[in-house]
Amino acid sequence: MSTATATSSADASQRRSADLEAAIGADPGAFRILTGDRPTGPLHIGHYFGTLANRVRLQEAGVELMVLIPDYQALTDRTATPALPENVFGLVADYLATGIDPARATIFAHSQVEALNQLMLPFLSLVSVAEIGRNPTVKDEIAATGSAVMSGLMFAYPVHQAADILSCRANLVPVGKDQLPHLELSRVIARRFNERYSPGAPFFAEPDALLSAAPLLLGLDGRKMGKSLGNSVPLRASADETARLVGKATTDSQRVITYEPDRRPEVSNLVLIAALCRDQDPAELAAEIGDGGAVALKAAVTEALNDRFADVRTRRADLAANPGYLRDVLAEGNERARAIAGDTLDEVRRLMHMTY
Ligand code: TRP
Repeated sequence: MSTATATSSADASQRRSADLEAAIGADPGAFRILTGDRPTGPLHIGHYFGTLANRVRLQEAGVELMVLIPDYQALTDRTATPALPENVFGLVADYLATGIDPARATIFAHSQVEALNQLMLPFLSLVSVAEIGRNPTVKDEIAATGSAVMSGLMFAYPVHQAADILSCRANLVPVGKDQLPHLELSRVIARRFNERYSPGAPFFAEPDALLSAAPLLLGLDGRKMGKSLGNSVPLRASADETARLVGKATTDSQRVITYEPDRRPEVSNLVLIAALCRDQDPAELAAEIGDGGAVALKAAVTEALNDRFADVRTRRADLAANPGYLRDVLAEGNERARAIAGDTLDEVRRLMHMTY
């Protein structure tokens, strides 16, 4: 895809997202969201402001929320599987601590929902190898590792994601721009399945991307914030750890603090973190700190984070102390997801004349 095409389709998705927000407001019950996070480490403040807070908002608005922990995708990330249980239950604790309500939402894991994974087989038959190879995420991975080393599962990962979404019959997927090509492939697969096996009465709805308005946070070192890069503040970090992490953050040599993301990305990012925590305008917050310099800025960021996340952290510690409860929540979510994906697969097999 050319840059111009990518930009215009992102613009179109942005406009579509505004329409979708209006439709959600009018009839939240018409939407089922699927979202998820790879179990590769604890969630951090970037996840919170980028997506978790938005999920909770949509849940509170009355949309049905399904949260997938794609543990098979962790294989594509080459995460060693012995770390999976800790990472998976860590995510469940992060979700519940930030307000995802297990009575309304369904939290489940890839590996526990057989029908979801089986749906990948007919879906693989609906796309060509060349088409998958054009997916930007897959292309990047081929460029990084070389196709000779890339696993078949990694190559097929966008198709797996289509199975995630369509097995749940989700019609809304909150994403960042980087995930738009995956959504597009899910739509193509839904369309082709309908054309081939259910002409006249479309079986799968084409899922929509819901782009969030959230600003992208950088890591504390000014690079992309990443779970495993040591440049984020995990939600579960203590007040002292937070102070230590923020203390190490990169700033610049200009004393007066301003909010100028293009010219001063690292300082502006710190200002933005504090502003998001305090629900304040970043330029106003920067002006308050003024010539207090980096020391005052870091103190303000630390305090803002510790205030904002105090309750989340207390809840998370309580949850972590109760592994039996986390296990029950996931088991119930898996059960619900199995019922939904199982029904989908039954229908798919019926439409494909595979009932004997
Ligand atoms: N691919 C997503 C990521 O890398 C995680 C994911 C897997 C996902 N399946 C999904 C997200 C289905 C939304 C819907 O973060």
